[in-house]
Amino acid sequence: MFPLRGTVPRPRLNSRRKPPTFLCMLLLLLVPICLIGIFIHGQKISYFFRPLWDNPPVPFTSIPHYYAENVSMDHLCHLHGWSLRPQPRRIFDAIIFSHELDMLDIRWHELYPYVTKFVILESNTTFTGIPKHLFFASNHERFSFAKQKIAHDIYPGRVAVPGSNEDPFVLESKQRGSMNALLTHAGISNGDILLMSDTDEIPSPHTLKLLQWCDGIPPIMHLELRHYMYSFEFPVDYSSWRASAHVYGPRTLYRHSRQTNLIFSDAGWHCSFCFRYIEEFVFKMTAYSHADRVRRKSFLTHSRIQNIICKGDDLFDMLPEEYSFRELIKKMGSIPLSASAVHLPAYLIENAHKFKFLLPGGCLRPPDQTNL
Ligand SMILES: *[C@@H]1O[C@H](CO)[C@@H](O)[C@H](O)[C@H]1NC(C)=O
Ligand SMILES: *[C@@H]1O[C@H](CO)[C@@H](O)[C@H](O)[C@H]1NC(C)=O
Repeated sequence: MFPLRGTVPRPRLNSRRKPPTFLCMLLLLLVPICLIGIFIHGQKISYFFRPLWDNPPVPFTSIPHYYAENVSMDHLCHLHGWSLRPQPRRIFDAIIFSHELDMLDIRWHELYPYVTKFVILESNTTFTGIPKHLFFASNHERFSFAKQKIAHDIYPGRVAVPGSNEDPFVLESKQRGSMNALLTHAGISNGDILLMSDTDEIPSPHTLKLLQWCDGIPPIMHLELRHYMYSFEFPVDYSSWRASAHVYGPRTLYRHSRQTNLIFSDAGWHCSFCFRYIEEFVFKMTAYSHADRVRRKSFLTHSRIQNIICKGDDLFDMLPEEYSFRELIKKMGSIPLSASAVHLPAYLIENAHKFKFLLPGGCLRPPDQTNL
């Protein structure tokens, strides 16, 4: 009995000493791991907790969109609560162009019958102030089919001084300012329709017909576009809203931001990073307004990019930007593949061989034009 009693306290003492050493060891291991984790995955962690620190913007009011093949314009206008015009409106399609030649080709062929003027502004620098090739000017013969309708101008960009942290969004907004001048030069007048969008945000022809032929449409509407990533094989959602349609007036200014709460449902396609060559992905990743997302050089290796394009993963290894945990978790991981090539731009389907990379099964890309 006694020996037992005598031995009992010892293990207790030992067990009291043990936890501190064990805890210290654990902390010594965990703290650096956490710090390294936060350093490497800081964006992921902050995006994961975004639903806690960020509030969603005011939701849009959706305008229902009615369409079926071969239904008369008169009937379609009335379904929207609008009325048929005796004359169609003129449509001006204005884009600030970077280098998306294939998207431009599809866009202009698709919209050609409805558009009065294709207004295109391109800069000799990127938004981040890097000198940039004039991709449209040097490929203009590819677009000679639209020659009569093109109003093109070059924006004289400024090269960023190395080290000066110039805000890419400032340069972007300056370019949008000079777009207003080009529109006037192109002959836009009050009452015309002005489309403000990026090259890869393509309104559908039946959307343009409604804008053209119906009286009573709201003076400004955002266009809700089906969002695709890398090709039409990866439909993401209906979240694209930046494109907008305006009835041009004295106060209309070219912008690519939220301008009204109204959004016209299912009004076209937005194909992000839908490029033919791997080099174009590299260019876009380094040149556009989110270049700071390229956190490591290895993000730009061709084999990594090719892998991601085929899997539907994220090029910047980021989490989706969502405002609720439910949406965030739903969108985490790869984008599911779709085998549907229905309800896509007609020009794309008519020229399916030329645009194989945008259609189901076409995810493999050549590195660049020279390696074909
Ligand atoms: C579409 O309408 C035209 C005339 O309005 C008619 O000739 C044609 O058969 C219709 N097509 C279909 C598929 O219903
Ligand atoms: C861009 O164009 C302007 C006007 O032609 C010129 O002054 C400027 O040097 C050009 N910048 C680059 C990077 O080529």
